[in-house]
Parts: sequence; C-alpha cells; structure tokens
Amino acid sequence: MKIGVSNLKGGVGKTTVSQNIAVCFAHLGYKTCILDTDRNQNSISWSGVRDEELPEILVVGSTDERAITKAVNKLNDSFDFVVIDGTPSLSEMTTRVILASDLLIIPILPSAHDIRAIHQFIDRYQQALEFRDDIPAYFFVNQFQGYTVQKSIRDLLLQFGLPILQTTFRERVAYVEAAVEGRGVIEWTDEKAAEEAVALTNEVLFAAEKHGFIKQEKVKV
Ligand SMILES: Nc1ncnc2c1ncn2[C@@H]1O[C@H](COP(=O)(O)OP(=O)(O)OP(=O)(O)O)[C@@H](O)[C@H]1O
Ligand SMILES: [Mg+2]
Repeated sequence: MKIGVSNLKGGVGKTTVSQNIAVCFAHLGYKTCILDTDRNQNSISWSGVRDEELPEILVVGSTDERAITKAVNKLNDSFDFVVIDGTPSLSEMTTRVILASDLLIIPILPSAHDIRAIHQFIDRYQQALEFRDDIPAYFFVNQFQGYTVQKSIRDLLLQFGLPILQTTFRERVAYVEAAVEGRGVIEWTDEKAAEEAVALTNEVLFAAEKHGFIKQEKVKV
C-alpha cells in the first residue's frame, strides 16, 4: 500500500510523520520502505544513522518527478507499505505524489496562517482528482499545543471538505531527538510521544482498512 505524506508548505512534519509511521509499520512486521522525494534527503540521512539492529526500513530517494510513479509502483510490488515523504517544492512532484498514493496524509501546523496557506495544496489535490477520483486524504495536526483542537482551527480545516485525523503530535523534543538518531519515537525515551505515534499509525491502518487496502483484526504496536 502506498501512503503519501504531502503538503506544499515546508517544515510542517512530512518527514517526521513519514518516519514515525514507517517505524511503527516495521515493528508490526510489515515490510516497509520510505521513498524520499525531497532534495534535502532528510529521510535518506535518517536511514544512514539508523541502528542496523532495529527493524529494517529501506529508504530510497527519487527527486525526478517523471520517474516517481514508476518508482512507487515498483517498490509497492515488494513492500507492504511504501511511505512517500513529500517535498515542499512547487514542482510537479507534489501532484505526482498525490496521484501515486492510495491514501494521503496532509500534515499541518495548527495556526490560522498555515491553514489558510493550504489552499495551494488543495488546488493540486483537486486537480489530481480529475485524473483519479478515489484518493482518500486526511489532515493531520502536528506540533499541537492545546488540549483539544480548537473549534476555529477545525472549522477552518473543514471548509476544505477533508477529514481530520483525531490523533495529534504535540510539540515534543523527542520527535527531534529520535530523528537525529535514525529512530522513531517508539524507539526513544518519551512514552507520550510513543503513544502518539502508535495512535497515528492505528488511525492510518484503520483508514487503510476502511478504504479496502488492508485487512486485519486489531493493531497493537
Ligand atoms: N511534533 C513535533 N514536535 C517537535 N518538533 C517537531 C515536531 N514535528 C516536527 N518537528 C521538527 O520540526 C522540523 C520540521 O519537521 P519535518 O522535517 O518533519 O517537516 P517537513 O514538512 O518534512 O519539512 P520540509 O518541508 O523541510 O521537508 C524538524 O526539525 C522536526 O524534527
Ligand atoms: Mg521533509
């Protein structure tokens, strides 16, 4: 199954989400890889420092937008999950990533400013729907600091007509520290962060099942 993690905005958590769900999938025993589409190659560097004794996650890079669909489909033949770490570049790559995905996660930061900037991404998403009208997409609120996602933020997001995942990642240093060590937060020392990553993974698996991509009873990391 191909999961795209995309937003045209930089620094919203595309790489953090990609790495953390990939780590959870790998711990569940799924054969998992990350396709890094960003020129800064954050996920490639992350995999370079990842401890070989941890569950294996292949990370490959492809910044050639013409080659991306083929690359994703080829990986999908031999992996249970291909997680596509998106790029904030305004190139065609984002449209290609959207079209290559079975399911999309759109990380956003919960500020009105960031949310208003999403229309650019949504325009791309809607263009993609003209080619394929079955691309389920979910917003994911990252670096959240309150207790519940404020109604004003929810209302702003809902105007785009896409569902919002219940799970949020709070702003925690564990996300930064674990990434520096080539790990996901479930392989780090902050239990709260680990719980968030597990919750997100379970929600994604639930959505994957709902849309008919996987079949399973119950998920535990
Ligand atoms: N929940 C969080 N708490 C604390 N720091 C976070 C959190 N999520 C992401 N970060 C940090 O914020 C920075 C940006 O996150 P990340 O690299 O995942 O975003 P991105 O969307 O992939 O960025 P880019 O567009 O540059 O590829 C990173 O240093 C990351 O470690
Ligand atoms: Mg990134």
